[in-house]
Amino acid sequence: MIKQAIIPLAGLGTRLLPLTSVFAKELLPINGKPGIEYILEECKEAGIKEIIFIISKKKEMIKKYFYNDKFYQRIIQKKNDKRVIKEYRKILRYKKMIKFVYQNKPSGTGDAVLKTRKFIKDDFFLMLLPDDLIIKKNCSKSMIKIHNKFNASVMASMNVKKKTVSRWGIFKLKKKFSKFNHLIEDVVEKPSISEAPSNKAVIGRYILPKKIFSELLKIEPGKGQELHITDAIRSLIKKKEKFIAHSFSGKYLDCGTMDGYIKSSMEISKL
Ligand code: G1P
Repeated sequence: MIKQAIIPLAGLGTRLLPLTSVFAKELLPINGKPGIEYILEECKEAGIKEIIFIISKKKEMIKKYFYNDKFYQRIIQKKNDKRVIKEYRKILRYKKMIKFVYQNKPSGTGDAVLKTRKFIKDDFFLMLLPDDLIIKKNCSKSMIKIHNKFNASVMASMNVKKKTVSRWGIFKLKKKFSKFNHLIEDVVEKPSISEAPSNKAVIGRYILPKKIFSELLKIEPGKGQELHITDAIRSLIKKKEKFIAHSFSGKYLDCGTMDGYIKSSMEISKL
């Protein structure tokens, strides 16, 4: 069973400047709710019991959001506002599930994953990238089902326009397991159009094996001198570790760019 999830939150959010110059992008409201709460809801509904937040000193605002008890207690004591009480209770429920670890240098998603090494208990765990919202269908829940069926690692996949392949990790697929699930032959981080093995991109939901940690310790930094999770996955695939690409059926919202962020509120308001 997948019981633990990790969420890298140390990114600077430069694609959302000026909104992120003093504010954590994951706390920015999307249709009246901080983006991170959509991710937490997805985890909870998928049966996750513990969530590890990888933050940095610059992003301590995120911790504060869950540890602002005195403030809430004072407000609730002053005015017995039902809405505030309900919101505070929700935050307390999440707080119980969350652990914080630090990644103070932005050295890539692979480096962020490594920071959680001591905390992962089971053979597999879930990772969610908070820029990627998936609405209408719980992608993590579907991926956990696939993991349970095939006892393999799973990554979310979506077709993208060929001219945008250099923005994503791109899959080379092997065998078809079922309509929405393929065995992965290879995955390349942000290839050029000519290098790209397909137009099937990695979207930010991963069920990873614990083995990924020892692989991350072995590999060298890749593009931009960062340690990429994609490179560690690639290396495990070469060692015959089974990874499945799952074409999810929910709707993807890219909240990491200004254009996508603006559109995401509109999309969610239509639900
Ligand atoms: C990361 C991954 C990339 C993946 C993308 C999905 O890139 O490295 O493989 O396709 O998330 O959003 P980033 O968005 O951090 O540049």
